[in-house]
Amino acid sequence: MPHFKAHLNDEAGTAALGAALARALTPGLAIYLHGDLGAGKTALTRALLHAAGHAGHVKSPTYTLAEPYTVVIAGRPTDVIHFDLYRMASPEEFLDAGFREYFNRHNVCIVEWPEKADPVLPAPDINIFLAVSGQGRDVECQALSDQGSQCLDRLHFAPNL
Ligand SMILES: Nc1ncnc2c1ncn2[C@@H]1O[C@H](COP(=O)(O)OP(=O)(O)OP(=O)(O)O)[C@@H](O)[C@H]1O
Ligand SMILES: [Mg+2]
Repeated sequence: MPHFKAHLNDEAGTAALGAALARALTPGLAIYLHGDLGAGKTALTRALLHAAGHAGHVKSPTYTLAEPYTVVIAGRPTDVIHFDLYRMASPEEFLDAGFREYFNRHNVCIVEWPEKADPVLPAPDINIFLAVSGQGRDVECQALSDQGSQCLDRLHFAPNL
């Protein structure tokens, strides 16, 4: 399975990765973002959504837990659902809110703090790990399915190392 690591020197590096992901995504992908508070999960998602054509604000869905955006993915209008599960009290809340239904072959789901819904969350196609490193961030992307592999194979990402 494809796998890569990179260093993102600054927020522009994170934005470049978000834009590269926006170009490589296909409907149906589930991407889980791992990393501590302030690691850059929302910054990456924001860059991805803007690169995919969303013109407005992207703020963390801290209280609503999920925020849908309609953008262009692989040339067609696609719903990208941005989750931030940090404040979820229990995994049952995820099921009660009907969030599982968002995970289908039409949508792209991007999940911050997937650990909070661990036993009930569908398996991801791609895991992205972000960590503070010096002034910048280390990132690691890992494909876990065929569709996730194809996405990372298409991802032409060359950060300034
Ligand atoms: N490559 C980078 N180098 C330095 N700073 C960065 C980089 N990428 C993002 N940042 C900054 O790091 C911060 C990341 O905040 P962000 O809200 O994205 O974190 P988060 O992982 O979503 O945290 P939370 O778990 O609280 O939701 C922002 O201030 C952003 O400007
Ligand atoms: Mg966040």
